[in-house]
Amino acid sequence: MSYYDNVGTYYDKDAVDFEQRYHQNPALQRIRQSFRQHTKSYEQESILEIGFGPGFDLVHFAEQFPNRKFYGLDISAEMVRLTREKIEEMGLENAWVAQGSVEDITTQFPQVTFDMIYVFFGALNTVNNLEVALSHLRQVLQPGGRMVLTFVNKYYVAGTIIELLKLKPKFAFARWKKIWGGYSPTNFLASRCYRPSTIKKWAKLHCIYSRGYSVFYPAWYYHTLHKRLPKSIVAALWELDERIATKRIGKFGEYMLYTFEKSD
Ligand SMILES: C[S@@+](CC[C@H](N)C(=O)[O-])C[C@H]1O[C@@H](n2cnc3c(N)ncnc32)[C@H](O)[C@@H]1O
Repeated sequence: MSYYDNVGTYYDKDAVDFEQRYHQNPALQRIRQSFRQHTKSYEQESILEIGFGPGFDLVHFAEQFPNRKFYGLDISAEMVRLTREKIEEMGLENAWVAQGSVEDITTQFPQVTFDMIYVFFGALNTVNNLEVALSHLRQVLQPGGRMVLTFVNKYYVAGTIIELLKLKPKFAFARWKKIWGGYSPTNFLASRCYRPSTIKKWAKLHCIYSRGYSVFYPAWYYHTLHKRLPKSIVAALWELDERIATKRIGKFGEYMLYTFEKSD
């Protein structure tokens, strides 16, 4: 079985209750809103999403902007099916999705180029070779176009400290290894976490914006912390992150967002 077959199978299974889990997780919802706001702030007409999952953002944007064209690629047949169903149910005539990875863009959408490419929540942590994947994205990005790429970050310092306090050194340093097994402690997904400097080097485009998420605000999977901490404290930690996210310390968040621009 190839690496992409494994990733596809993993997400086919994950698709079963993916939406339900998401709707029960306010932290993930908050981060997604921020990703969306940032992505929407750029002018765009022809948009590509890689790894759209059950299609939350693709159909949201396609409905909100009927004059723009949205294309999506996802490695999981089940995620493609769920998203197609939404596109059909909503009667969207400006959205097209196909199964595949970054390397398949030109085969699946020949002759199409994009002024916005975005990846929300993880698909670029599960590519065969990130440097090659980024070159494929660059190739289909129009001059003046932008890519909003988000990644599970390598050095999530607060997470390392929390896991050490829980006496779980294996989890504390899991992302520092070449291969990280993904978020699930029981279901292994071979993934890679990268340093911000590596991503910026391999993107080979001008990075016009970068920020971290969950530097102090508890990561989305710390359910107990989210439940036990008073709401006011959780809100204050989010606000604190908002203030420091683009500074150096932002690089130690659980998640990272980068915007790259291709020169005209
Ligand atoms: C964690 S889910 C996130 C889904 C969605 N973007 C969201 O924000 O809810 C990652 C998605 O990326 C897809 N994916 C993972 N690796 C991929 C790859 N190399 N190429 C395309 N899609 C990929 C998975 O099938 C899955 O749907």
